Amino acid sequence: MSNTFYITTPIYYVNGAPHIGHAYTSVAADVLARFKRLDGFDVFFLTGTDEHGQKVEKAAAEAGLDPQEFTDRVSADFRAMGATMGISNDDFIRTTEERHKSGCAALWARLEASGYLYRGEYEGWYAVRDEAFYGEDELTLDAHGIRRAPSGAPVELVREPSWFFRLSAMQERMLAFYAENPDFIAPAARRNELLRFCRSGLADLSISRASFRWGIPVPGDPDHVMYVWLDALANYITAMGFPDETHPRWRFWPADLHIVGKEIARFHALYWPAFLLAAGIAPPRRVFSHGWWTVEGEKMSKSVGNVIDPRALVAEFGLDPVRYFLLREVPFGNDGDFSRRSLISRLNSELANDLGNLCQRTLTQIARQCDGRLPHVGPATEADSALLAAAGALVPLVREKLDRQAFHEALEEIWRLVRAANAYIDHAAPWALARTDRTRMGAVLRVLADVLRVLATVLQPFLPGTMALMLDQLGVPAEERTLAALANPLPAGTVLPSPAGLFPRFVGAAG
Ligand code: MSP
Repeated sequence: MSNTFYITTPIYYVNGAPHIGHAYTSVAADVLARFKRLDGFDVFFLTGTDEHGQKVEKAAAEAGLDPQEFTDRVSADFRAMGATMGISNDDFIRTTEERHKSGCAALWARLEASGYLYRGEYEGWYAVRDEAFYGEDELTLDAHGIRRAPSGAPVELVREPSWFFRLSAMQERMLAFYAENPDFIAPAARRNELLRFCRSGLADLSISRASFRWGIPVPGDPDHVMYVWLDALANYITAMGFPDETHPRWRFWPADLHIVGKEIARFHALYWPAFLLAAGIAPPRRVFSHGWWTVEGEKMSKSVGNVIDPRALVAEFGLDPVRYFLLREVPFGNDGDFSRRSLISRLNSELANDLGNLCQRTLTQIARQCDGRLPHVGPATEADSALLAAAGALVPLVREKLDRQAFHEALEEIWRLVRAANAYIDHAAPWALARTDRTRMGAVLRVLADVLRVLATVLQPFLPGTMALMLDQLGVPAEERTLAALANPLPAGTVLPSPAGLFPRFVGAAG
């Protein structure tokens, strides 16, 4: 079994500023990358920007800029968004980089050599907003007589020479691939959708455009640029050194997990493995497609003016509460609604009250009653053993949930332990024991400190900043913060720094 774990976000279109939807995909992938690192895996986490195609070319023209200058700017903005969100990516790829362009040309050459490409003419519908081709039968006419794709994007008629990929020839192979890899695409609803689409018959895919220039030239046919989706998907291998299979990064391929939004599931779970299989390259192991956020019940859009800038949220609420909210509020895979009220309520009740107070109550007692030193492990009562057993069972539970990308379930398991620890401290009342039974008081505080250590350790991927502080306060050395290190008890007598609050309550207005 290889110990590598390669995870990616989609590469973001640079036609506009980053918003909460992009931050969501990135934070989800980041939590998994961080968890795998804590769990001892050799992790590679990739993100980046998708910079070619008509949509970006158009946005550059509207901004009055040369496309390269425009993409330089917007790409830098996405990089900055990642830094604000605490994204721990190992690389950031841009499709305008030389390494990507040459890798893409190599992929094209392999597809051509394997007989999967041919030149023809495309006539059909194209939505620039989605950078996608649509069949006549998929379109609807709106009240103004405008033809729209299922996504709502307006389409235009395209008639031009084009290179095609023989997707039709891949149909049986793809169905066999899905049957052999039942976990390849999740959640189940997406898988069923994809199977239906695939069974209904696959048409060949147009993979070049000849009516604009902002793309990677087709090798040997410079009047054409590669279809932006072929170009973009290839980022997952070009960043790993493709076509140089002796590149040190190539050991990470095939990717373990592509995290993507639901609207781009088909590109990742059908076109991408089909291209790879046709080119003789191993397909990725899994694609998870998450849902979409609305804002206070409405679709997020520039025209409504309700686009949420993740950086403004972080400035107001702090990074960790925002990360927590994004993954706790909505089961991953479902659509969800963003509202300030629910963010504030989760911040105050789950982070400040449940977790923050538990930590504060325990550490204040240790500071006051134990001279700030970690107490000895005492003889365990039934209540102690039950709580410690629950803490001991937490890591495998969370691992299992995160291996299925069920973030909300992982957090629910963690909070089950937080609530159990709160019930335990209320019942054991170490503040009262301080007057009646100091030995027992020490034992109780030690149980709590050990449980808090488990909580802070598994929560690091979700709440990296605050959990680092919590582990400092619990006296856990930096090299003892992995999941495996939980097996090593902290020495009694460890001097703990004075406790400080972790999550300030939010007291401003909700609306
Ligand atoms: N460039 C393509 C991806 C190419 S990957 C080879 C693309 N870019 S994107 O910038 O439009 O979107 C990237 C991600 O942001 C997707 O995963 C998408 O689902 C996510 N989101 C954009 N708006 C969103 C919401 N309102 N809610 C949740 N996520 C959404 O597609």
